[in-house]
Amino acid sequence: MTTMTKPSTVEGFSHTENDTMLSWPDFEALSPKEKGQYYLTPEGNMRILIHSQQLNRELLDHLLELAELIRSSHYNDQLRRYVRSLLKEKSCALYFTQPSTRTFTSFSLAAQTVGMINEEIRDAEMSSLYKGESELDTLLTLAELVDMVIMRQGDHSLIERFAHEIISRGLSTRIVNGGSGSEQHPTQALLELYTLVAHFDLNNTDETFNVGIVGDLKRSRTARSLSYLLALYPQIKHTFIAPEELQMGDDLTEYLDENNIAWEKTEDMDAVLPKVDAIYMMRIQDEYGDTSEETRKRYGEYNLTTERTQNLKPSACILHPLPRRTELPIEIDADPRAMYWEAVNRGKFIRIALLLHMFGKDDIEKIQARAY
Ligand code: NCD
Repeated sequence: MTTMTKPSTVEGFSHTENDTMLSWPDFEALSPKEKGQYYLTPEGNMRILIHSQQLNRELLDHLLELAELIRSSHYNDQLRRYVRSLLKEKSCALYFTQPSTRTFTSFSLAAQTVGMINEEIRDAEMSSLYKGESELDTLLTLAELVDMVIMRQGDHSLIERFAHEIISRGLSTRIVNGGSGSEQHPTQALLELYTLVAHFDLNNTDETFNVGIVGDLKRSRTARSLSYLLALYPQIKHTFIAPEELQMGDDLTEYLDENNIAWEKTEDMDAVLPKVDAIYMMRIQDEYGDTSEETRKRYGEYNLTTERTQNLKPSACILHPLPRRTELPIEIDADPRAMYWEAVNRGKFIRIALLLHMFGKDDIEKIQARAY
């Protein structure tokens, strides 16, 4: 067992500096919130982001404000130059062994925007994994070489194991989860939330706001991460719309119960469409296990057709993490309520904010002073 200096504590937790780092089995058994206390820099900034539950409302609001500042002054040359200087000594590796277009490009551009040097591993056959190296060893190699690893892979436990190794070894490498199995995709949740907050006043009202989440909820990391993040807003109700066999896991609804958040599970999409303020569509996640023909057929009944959009509130917002299949026809892109392309654009800015925060370069006043 390795001893280490603990990072500072977060709300509700206290550890002394002389605590010993937990063994992997003990660490693995902690809840994401409990793990989060180990995922901080000595100054209290997040340095490892794996689960949406690690964020509290204060940090979320801060990231949204910073993202908006950078986005709104993106064409201000002076600010752009300043932002580019902020992490110019830092390097990052994008380790993506699952397919990705948006998340990969968005992180890659975000890292370049703040001046970081990027390396990428996308093809296992071109890395030492092909020679039989374990993925953990590949990641530990990257951790020795770069300041930050941004990763996407099919096995959620790998990122947790990697984080534990980094902490045990006293390394300061930052880690960001760009999608881990069917469990988590916290930065996708951040960009959906950023889009919602840009269009709805979620901060100054306690009026119920109903978010419908539709599709393969059982295997969608984006649905899970968003739901965890939305749980920071007590007035948001979560309506899970899916055929029985693809419904949201009980672990997530138990978390909502623990946090006094209202939720409902339903198979009847048409009954709830007129009641939702935002709708989040999911594709079928057939890379995670077999999907029977019967399930595929039932899933097809949950497509958001143009006829169905007529039953949505005029003020409703339509989101989708993309890529899409048949659940969201391209015709809907022209609907003013469709906000998924805008969300892609916002993704880069919330990721810039996150990178700056993780390296302690997120002083809003200081950055703002450079904008004018
Ligand atoms: C999602 C993912 O990879 O989980 N895509 C994304 O990052 N925008 C959604 C999906 O693949 O269905």
